[in-house]
Amino acid sequence: MQLRVLLTEDQIRTRIKELGAQIDADYPAGNLHLVCILKGAYVFLADLARAIKRDTFVEFMGISSYGKGKTSSGEVKVTKDLDHSVEGANVLIVEDIVDSGVTLSYLVQVLRQRKPHSVRIAALLDKPERRLRPVEVAYVGFKIPDEFVVGYGLDYGEKYRNLRDVCVLEEGEAA
Ligand code: IMP
Ligand code: MG
Repeated sequence: MQLRVLLTEDQIRTRIKELGAQIDADYPAGNLHLVCILKGAYVFLADLARAIKRDTFVEFMGISSYGKGKTSSGEVKVTKDLDHSVEGANVLIVEDIVDSGVTLSYLVQVLRQRKPHSVRIAALLDKPERRLRPVEVAYVGFKIPDEFVVGYGLDYGEKYRNLRDVCVLEEGEAA
């Protein structure tokens, strides 16, 4: 496997500042509930939450739709639920990447049943070519081509989450 840098640490930092400013401008005063989808979004959440100036309430939710490989199993499972009610809250789902859209379309449906005031999605990465289910993503960091990426929280078999850049994982001789 070989790594090719797709998005540098600097590019990511700059873009997240812009997303934070946009989110601050879009929401009315009051708490914003950030729901971080484990595990891949934990790095994005840490940076995005600090780019947002208004009050936030951070929660974590575990969802799995991927096995150990590079393609979705198609089955979505809640592995860790929220600790608090989101009734009446402005919920912003913080996700690493939207691929087929299966995970997020399911999650939005689950959260809507809990009667929040609003539900929107912020995703660092979007692979629009791969969409199987329609999902509206209000805040997208970067649209990327249909390639498997790792780093900045994203993994391949639990590896590479701690890379600072987002890299394409390519088959081939080890670098
Ligand atoms: P979806 O349900 O197909 O949209 O899958 C979304 C989830 O699959 C993301 O939250 C990631 O955890 C994982 N995923 C999708 N594409 C990639 C990738 O290129 N690298 C690493 N994980 C990915
Ligand atoms: Mg994920």
